Amino acid sequence: MRYGHFDDETREYVITTPHTPAPWINYLGSQNFFSLISHQGGGYSFYRDAKMRRLTRYRYNNIPSDVGGRYFFVNDGGDTWTPTWLPVKADLDHFETRHGMGYTQITGERGGLRVESLHFVPVDEDAEIARVTVTNTSEVTKTPTLFSFVEFALWNAQDDQTNYQRNLSIGEVEVEVDGPHGSAVYHRTEYRERRDHYAVHAVNAKAIGFDTDRDTFVGAYNSLGESAVPRAGASADSVASGWYPIGSLSLSPTLAPGESVTYTFVLGYLENPVESKWADEAQQVVNKERAHALLSRFATTEQTDAAFEALRDHWTRLLSTYSVTSTDPKLDRMVNIWNQYQCMVTFNMSRSASYFETGIGRGMGFRDSNQDLLGFVHLVPERGRERILDIAATQFPDGSAYHQYQPLTKRGNNDIGSGFNDDPLWLIAGVAAYLKETGDWSILDEQVPFDNDETLAEPLFEHLTRSFRFTVDNRGPHGLPLIGRADWNDCLNLNCFSSEPGESFQTTENASGGVAESLFIAAQFVLYGEQYAEIAERRGLTEVAAEARAEVEAMRTAVLEHGWDGGWFLRAYDFHGNKVGTDEHPEGKIWIEPQGFAVMAGIGTEKPADGGPSVAETALQSVNEMLATEHGMVLQYPAYTTYKIELGEVSTYPPGYKENGGIFCHNNPWVIIGETVLGHGERAFDYYKRITPAYREDISEIHKQEPYVYAQMIAGKEAVRHGEAKNSWLTGTAAWNFVTVSQHLLGVRPGWSGLIVDPQIGPAVPEFTVRRVARGATYVITVRNSGAEGSRATLTVDGVAIEGNEVPYAPAGSVVQVEAVL
Ligand code: GLC
Ligand code: GLC
Repeated sequence: MRYGHFDDETREYVITTPHTPAPWINYLGSQNFFSLISHQGGGYSFYRDAKMRRLTRYRYNNIPSDVGGRYFFVNDGGDTWTPTWLPVKADLDHFETRHGMGYTQITGERGGLRVESLHFVPVDEDAEIARVTVTNTSEVTKTPTLFSFVEFALWNAQDDQTNYQRNLSIGEVEVEVDGPHGSAVYHRTEYRERRDHYAVHAVNAKAIGFDTDRDTFVGAYNSLGESAVPRAGASADSVASGWYPIGSLSLSPTLAPGESVTYTFVLGYLENPVESKWADEAQQVVNKERAHALLSRFATTEQTDAAFEALRDHWTRLLSTYSVTSTDPKLDRMVNIWNQYQCMVTFNMSRSASYFETGIGRGMGFRDSNQDLLGFVHLVPERGRERILDIAATQFPDGSAYHQYQPLTKRGNNDIGSGFNDDPLWLIAGVAAYLKETGDWSILDEQVPFDNDETLAEPLFEHLTRSFRFTVDNRGPHGLPLIGRADWNDCLNLNCFSSEPGESFQTTENASGGVAESLFIAAQFVLYGEQYAEIAERRGLTEVAAEARAEVEAMRTAVLEHGWDGGWFLRAYDFHGNKVGTDEHPEGKIWIEPQGFAVMAGIGTEKPADGGPSVAETALQSVNEMLATEHGMVLQYPAYTTYKIELGEVSTYPPGYKENGGIFCHNNPWVIIGETVLGHGERAFDYYKRITPAYREDISEIHKQEPYVYAQMIAGKEAVRHGEAKNSWLTGTAAWNFVTVSQHLLGVRPGWSGLIVDPQIGPAVPEFTVRRVARGATYVITVRNSGAEGSRATLTVDGVAIEGNEVPYAPAGSVVQVEAVL
């Protein structure tokens, strides 16, 4: 069942009912000011850091779940309603939400009045705009009253939810009914002391009334949907003093039949220099010059429209770097629009703020950020460069790293500490992707601190060397990498042994002297160790490269000798040296991560002399038989039915959820890429479609989350709710699926000295054209694809047949025509 449809022309998902199975959200903002907005107007805004600079309040765990956002209440001749449906929930004659690239448009109509609000954050502004158009669609003249509503958060989102003894006494606002560009409410809590920032909620017209005190507006015992002021039909002009400051402005246009009026509402964030915080000697009135300047840029509808056009152009430009035209519209819309959009959102948000992440929890992950980079580096390479340098600066001198760092300070944070032994190798992955994309080798000479200590700065290349050496220097009895606190799988905690409720599995180590080793890190080392060797060689460090390659070969051998269970790769050796992920056990026999990653790394791909299946083929065949379901491949099988103290958090989840046999959409791509390595394009594309949201749109009632973005997890085959997704939006799934589809299924990927064209998508997509801008040149790649298993493309470049599959990089500005036939 569907709850809307894609509009590919406008790059929107159109939701046609408020009654989706869950709130379906979008993100506004691309630089510093960000908002979450659901299809019903729910969500919140923050400036740069969702924890430290929360502008508006949102209650997770609320009933109903999505009340709290920017709302417009209508009182039309005594009939009170909200065009977003929530919070009033009055029936609407028409409802539509259009989630687009960085904007959301919500339209509600009732009783001959239509209200359409367009929400966006302009490219270079620290403000959320709402362009609101009220139209009289009836036959009679109407004078409705419109009341805006935002609830301010007291800046620190964590404190805002806990410290009521203080917070309920500190709220302060200022109201400006007759401002230079209309009316405004200023939120200035804590401005009198150490804060030099404030928020403004304004409209570009003179309001007939305002409210800033929540209890006055809502009524102390009402729900938000029963708000007293809109019901009464007139603002109370309340001025908050402590308690709960809000911003509400009312307007009452008279509209003839068919007539419309448009207003621009602004929610802005402003900082003042300490010396000019105040407008008066007595230091009682906020200096509003900057707010007025902001509001002057949105004083007319024409200005607002121009800012919106600039945002549309911004996205058109971004999305022109990689696009495909094929015979499959679902494929095209994922590649051209939604998957790349989600990659930008994960780049901006990391794992901080979504409807599953509260914005007060995690900082930026070392491994997550490096993987996110794989999905956005082609869109904003200069910001990729900056991100790499930030991440590398949180590395320790021995190559290991803080697992997370804070976006506001860019410093490593110790909450989760370090010792996730996969972390260092992701830095090589990120840097290699950046180098291939840009050819900017100068980044390797940038001086980058260790542990954010400038006195320890070394060139970035040295950081890669330490990353590489970290694995070499931390191996266990089988010559395989020690796992530390966990590898990619945060919940495989082989050195933890926790029996205390609530204790962190990631930071607890109750035993010492263990020898737990990870096959995942081993495969990762083969893949990224080889890339490190290549980088060294291209820097002229022939010996370093040769030594690195020898280490990579030693690891490959160790994996084949000690990491093979007979039908698939083992997952690990535990603390005591026992196998994890073996047919010998009744549960957790086979795990997805090492199968996909090993094949991706080319381990065991050689055909044996007897012509039978290679080790890699056997492993992926086992995946197909034991892990694949119609909703994607589960993480491991069978799921654990009881708590296994020696494995850690993984077995804490009920069977079929999250890391315990859930479908982790983040690692399905590794198997999909592995299948393309083996020439199995048909199976690869089939797997891709099982987890890709556009192909799941028709089962939205089962999937439940947004049909336009990936979710981190879909419940696995042993779960009670198999096929139900959770944790949409902020997941490494976005980057890895974009890498998979753009670079391996469609097969166009940046190589070291040219663009590689190596499609492997099977017979379902017989023809397609990829347009790829790389290093300033445009490649138009037309593919004719038989889809025959094992076939590889032969290429013609500007009419001339070439050897191999690498099209040499052309000078910036040129257009290269490539024909690929397979
Ligand atoms: C989450 C984490 C990621 C981890 C994965 C598997 O997505 O953000 O770092 O690799 O879970 O545990
Ligand atoms: C990852 C996992 C999650 C786990 C968390 C611990 O996000 O997906 O299951 O609880 O890491 O930090």
